[in-house]
Amino acid sequence: MDRSSRNRLTEKLLPQFAGDTLFDAIARAVCRASCLPRKELYEAWEVARRVRRRFRGGRIVDMACGHGLLAQILLLLDDSSPVALAADRHIPKSAATLAVSLNDSWPRLRDRIQFVEADLRDLQLHHDDLIVSSHACGGLTDLILDRAVEIGARVAVLPCCHDLKDADLSGLQGWLDGPLAMDVVRVTRLRSQGYRVFTQQIPGDITPKNRLLLAEPP
Ligand SMILES: C[S@@+](CC[C@H](N)C(=O)[O-])C[C@H]1O[C@@H](n2cnc3c(N)ncnc32)[C@H](O)[C@@H]1O
Repeated sequence: MDRSSRNRLTEKLLPQFAGDTLFDAIARAVCRASCLPRKELYEAWEVARRVRRRFRGGRIVDMACGHGLLAQILLLLDDSSPVALAADRHIPKSAATLAVSLNDSWPRLRDRIQFVEADLRDLQLHHDDLIVSSHACGGLTDLILDRAVEIGARVAVLPCCHDLKDADLSGLQGWLDGPLAMDVVRVTRLRSQGYRVFTQQIPGDITPKNRLLLAEPP
């Protein structure tokens, strides 16, 4: 199966996910909702499991959440997070369909995720939140990192759509390609703000924008 496909997962694909793993169960719920591009399932899963290996508990804040699957998988992987806030300035209508399908399979998710249509600049955040974002395009990733640092929260981002125009690449572009230089500068900035940083990758066959940046305050 091409894990990078943007085709929607539908009930026709249920036989592909017949196993008894948590991933297969989530994939079946996603197929029944029939609204999510295949790639988003794999991205959310691969990001969530890596985040949970490092960061437990706290309210989840899924920024630029789209369908909010990342937030819901994070809740499934660690029940010690009481609730999740999934925020985007435009939440697709089908996010509700997906949430209903996941709730049908895991009633314990019910009433624990709140979708909010808002600009990320306006969200009220707390020090013990776990801020996550998958594919916050261009400078949106920097906004999310800034917002996390502002309140000293843990953060995990999978940057994409690097906008190199006028970017500060710290002179690294002679050695590193532009997007990589930009992510290195993000790491350096977080470290200078006292953060401990972990760099990982999700599998490149899902997306070439696969660098995962996790950071926690001292
Ligand atoms: C590439 S999508 C990523 C969606 C989802 N996280 C995913 O992985 O599929 C970027 C999202 O950022 C949202 N967005 C862009 N600027 C925003 C802002 N200033 N405040 C809130 N959401 C924003 C868009 O509405 C869009 O849903």
